[in-house]
Amino acid sequence: MKTFLMNNGREIPALGFGTYKLGDREICGYSVETAIRVGYRLIDTAAMYMNEEGVADGIRMSGVPRSEIFLTTKVWLQDCGGYDRVRPALERSLRRLGTDYLDLYLIHWPFVDLEGTWKALEKLSSEGLIRSIGVCNCRETDLKRILADCSIVPAVNQLETHPLNQQKSVRKFQEQYGILTEAWGVLGRAMPQVMDNPALCAAAAAHGKTVPQVMLRFCYQEGIIGIPRSSSVARIVENRRIWDFELSEEEMEQLRGIDTGERLISRTDPDDPASRQKLIDMRFDI
Ligand SMILES: NC(=O)c1ccc[n+]([C@@H]2O[C@H](COP(=O)([O-])OP(=O)(O)OC[C@H]3O[C@@H](n4cnc5c(N)ncnc54)[C@H](OP(=O)(O)O)[C@@H]3O)[C@@H](O)[C@H]2O)c1
Repeated sequence: MKTFLMNNGREIPALGFGTYKLGDREICGYSVETAIRVGYRLIDTAAMYMNEEGVADGIRMSGVPRSEIFLTTKVWLQDCGGYDRVRPALERSLRRLGTDYLDLYLIHWPFVDLEGTWKALEKLSSEGLIRSIGVCNCRETDLKRILADCSIVPAVNQLETHPLNQQKSVRKFQEQYGILTEAWGVLGRAMPQVMDNPALCAAAAAHGKTVPQVMLRFCYQEGIIGIPRSSSVARIVENRRIWDFELSEEEMEQLRGIDTGERLISRTDPDDPASRQKLIDMRFDI
């Protein structure tokens, strides 16, 4: 299995399986079981996806020991704050996931008491409940707030990242601290803008691969963890078949050139207070 090295000395699989929108317990369980059976070892969920029980079912049904799975979940905004808020949220996630530790715990959005929530994650990792900690959707300014007073540097920042939105500036900043980028929406949700992109189609044709495979391979060669999601057995398999070809430096340069620097998927504008508030107001029974 291909892995990347995190800044805390631990390894993380270079390719994982996403579970957003796999809300139906049976579909989620079956998709996660399939993913693990065909070789994925990183499973990405979140309290807000309301599918942690389905993820637990899938892991159990796969027959692969928990110790061989890299399991990630995330704390939602309503539970961000100090240790007294985050610890119960973590305990509920652990219970739903049927496990007593997480490989990676992430702050889902940096909009509620980022510094306090980070301190809570640091404490929880010192208690052995979480092996690595990180963030999602952080801009350079958000990361700087954490870095100003932290005892653990985030291992990962999970961001909307794909060839049309390569996050070049924040990735460059993160490199100084060894913070890995984990790509959500890594397939650009298979939107026509990516599936029909001429440079992606040309690379796919040149290697006898599909556009999603080229997107995932591009991501890997850039040192970015990809976590594609699918509920189709054929596509779950297809998205792992990226180890038998390599994009040339010329192809990589062409693909680096199709970056628009714009969000394609996320409707949340972190620079807009109203947009941030909309997310903060989303509450779930979790
Ligand atoms: N931290 C955050 O804020 C955040 C936000 C969003 C997502 N995430 C995480 O990142 C993961 C991935 O992102 P995502 O789910 O938003 O989007 P994605 O992986 O870019 O795209 C998923 C979509 O692409 C389709 N698809 C998958 N493989 C395909 C293939 N080979 N050919 C054609 N279509 C394909 C899937 O449909 P089928 O199911 O029909 O195959 C699904 O509709 C999530 O599942 C979640 O774990 C994190």
